[in-house]
Amino acid sequence: MTEWSNDSWRNKSATHQPAYPDQDALTEATGELAAMPPLVTSWEIEALKQQLAQAAVGQRFLLQGGDCAESFSECTSSVIINKLKILLQMSLVLVHGTHRRVIRVGRFAGQYAKPRSSDTEVRDEGTLPSYYGDIVNRPAFDERSRTPDPWRMLRGYERSALTLNFIRSLIDGGFADLHHPEYWQLDFVDHSSRATEFHEIVESIGESLRFMETLSGISVADISRVDFYTSHEGLLLPYESALTRCVPRRHGWYNLSTHFPWIGMRTAGIDDAHVEFFRGIRNPVAVKVGPSVSPSELPAVVEQLVDVLHPDDEPGRLTFIHRFGHQRVTEYLPALIEAVRATGRTVLLVCDPMHGNTLTTDSGIKTRRFEDILSELEQAIDIHASCESVLGGVHFELTGENVTECTGGARGLTDDDLRDGYRSLVDPRLNYEQALEMAMLIARRLAPTV
Ligand code: PEP
Ligand code: CO
Repeated sequence: MTEWSNDSWRNKSATHQPAYPDQDALTEATGELAAMPPLVTSWEIEALKQQLAQAAVGQRFLLQGGDCAESFSECTSSVIINKLKILLQMSLVLVHGTHRRVIRVGRFAGQYAKPRSSDTEVRDEGTLPSYYGDIVNRPAFDERSRTPDPWRMLRGYERSALTLNFIRSLIDGGFADLHHPEYWQLDFVDHSSRATEFHEIVESIGESLRFMETLSGISVADISRVDFYTSHEGLLLPYESALTRCVPRRHGWYNLSTHFPWIGMRTAGIDDAHVEFFRGIRNPVAVKVGPSVSPSELPAVVEQLVDVLHPDDEPGRLTFIHRFGHQRVTEYLPALIEAVRATGRTVLLVCDPMHGNTLTTDSGIKTRRFEDILSELEQAIDIHASCESVLGGVHFELTGENVTECTGGARGLTDDDLRDGYRSLVDPRLNYEQALEMAMLIARRLAPTV
């Protein structure tokens, strides 16, 4: 294999990258970015890697979630608080069900770039570059908005820093009450046929928290610091490499734009630029694995990815996020599990039940059905159990807001309801209630059987 450098990806084919018309501006913008302070630190990255290593062997459980794409305009206090709140509450439900410590990782503070199926979008008004996420261009369909602007990378970096700054402050204070079910919005529970069971879960979490507080005489928020780590798809390589650095007293290069970057399904080609870039960074990394290859091709793909990205079997280094869809998971997942096993190395396996279950309604709205998402997760849990393999986590597109983007759930949202509160510019997300309900439903299923 050729020697890695922070620029060696430039010699490979980089797909899903915007065509910046002004190359001088690109050089100038990435130069400025490279001089900025990092967003995260190498010791946080190493701490997360250790926790992921435990998740891979069933001692912890990863909860990863957030928007499909963050938008610059939603970098607001309430949106950030609500996202932390839903992740924290889901994590408590999962701790309760799984009896495992939960690692909370947001798809936030940098999830601004999106792969698109076509470089251009054609409308009656004409043809323009596709919208690649706020870090690249703007969604409005006019030439100025859609022209990729490298200075938006600086704006994305700043939004990430602002988001992280607020998250860190919330963790250090002011966030305490969100532990307690008394503060959760649970009106939806009574709409569910499982209302009694859900009330029992919530009461039991409340009792455990009160018990711990009585026992120790201090509030839960003071006993255990709530950690949140960040992740995003490491798609936009000029941005990722500008924030990749050597740090004093550590060996190697760290991508300091996020703790846990992942490679999307569309950019995971073994000879492509993304795999080249990711192989040289010291962060824990994930790769999305979906039905883009057939089950019989999976062993070869898995073997190559593991060889390149995980040659030393370093604990916590590699995660595969599988996203096969509820109709295909039984066909693919056993093959993936077997292929990973055959490499002889330890890989964390996580289920993303969102990206294989996207539909378009008759009126042309992109949505997902709660029951399909749940079905993929339940099948994945059962398949892992029957293969004696570890499902080490889940990956959701969700928001703490009251949006209507996915149908179903206790309130039974229908296709007609989607018009009322559809805000995502890309994929549909579970709303607050649907996300909490999903956590309750899978927590039961993940409960230890002994
Ligand atoms: C995503 O996570 O938003 C995404 C595009 O996923 P995938 O690469 O799995 O399609
Ligand atoms: Co998405």
